[in-house]
Amino acid sequence: MAALRPSLAEAEAEAERRVRAWASGQRSRGRRVALVTSGGTQVPLEARAVRFLENFSSGRRGAVSAERLVAAGYGVCFLHRARSAFPWARALPPPGPALLDLLSVHGREEGAGARVALDPRALPGLVPALLAYSRAKDDGALLALEFTALDEYLALLRAAARALAPLGSSAMFYLAAAVSDFYIPASEMPEHKIQSTDGPLQITMKMVPKMLSPLVKEWAPEAFVISFKLETDPSILIIKARQALEKYRHQVVIANLLESRRTAVVVVTKDSETQLSLSNEEVSQGMEIEDKIVNYLEAQHRSFMEK
Ligand code: PMT
Repeated sequence: MAALRPSLAEAEAEAERRVRAWASGQRSRGRRVALVTSGGTQVPLEARAVRFLENFSSGRRGAVSAERLVAAGYGVCFLHRARSAFPWARALPPPGPALLDLLSVHGREEGAGARVALDPRALPGLVPALLAYSRAKDDGALLALEFTALDEYLALLRAAARALAPLGSSAMFYLAAAVSDFYIPASEMPEHKIQSTDGPLQITMKMVPKMLSPLVKEWAPEAFVISFKLETDPSILIIKARQALEKYRHQVVIANLLESRRTAVVVVTKDSETQLSLSNEEVSQGMEIEDKIVNYLEAQHRSFMEK
């Protein structure tokens, strides 16, 4: 891809410094570190962009996994799409009437004397989530980095990967973000809003290089790397996961289907395929598939480090 815009190059350098300093704090506390990527990237169709190519990802997989990884003792660098799901914040309803209806104003109706209250009985998950969040914050166990555009994601991933490389095999990369495979190079992008008066739109997009390749070969070659493979056609899911493992030579692919991704995944390694799924009973008990994914990967990571 083309050279970074100057502001992005600065953001990348700053992110690398921040992650490096945070990671050395995690190391001195004896913690393993996970970089969790989460949410979808945005690809502009115009330089002064009015329209974008987006995808379905809500960021929930990454956010829940980050919570579970912190609970399992990891320091988590959470590289996430702005305004997508955030660890523990998902205990709150999204901004809108459901949230407003939970809040009430007490005291003087306007000005500094007014207090806003929320009855925790209306949201039973909120108090445990707030307590877990403030513990993670006080422990410095969560470092959040935010992206929107594809090029921001790529720059921040590279920065974080380089900063975590000195941790060697104790660093885990958990690449759950849904990253666009297509983009329009800046040199080929129309500057202004594409006019509908010009008739039906035909665009040619270039391929985004897979970041797994430099990540595994150059940026953090000793790390434990987990990529995700999303498909909608079950007949090709495992084949594609195996192809990714053979091509990039990393440790794990988590294969999931769009429709069933909240309740079932297959963990694929060079010599195993493990189905993880939730029973109806487990769902009714509030268990989430990420509980099983993180449990499984934590053990795999431990044996990877021992080797
Ligand atoms: O966010 P949710 O709504 O909870 O949904 C979670 C999820 C379905 C998005 C998640 O579980 C998932 O499957 N994420 C990966 C989806 C995806 O983009 O798959 P892919 O086959 O296009 O990419 C495969 C892997 O290559 C991914 O780990 C990705 O990080 C990586 N990649 C992708 C593009 C690119 N240019 N470079 C990459 O390294």
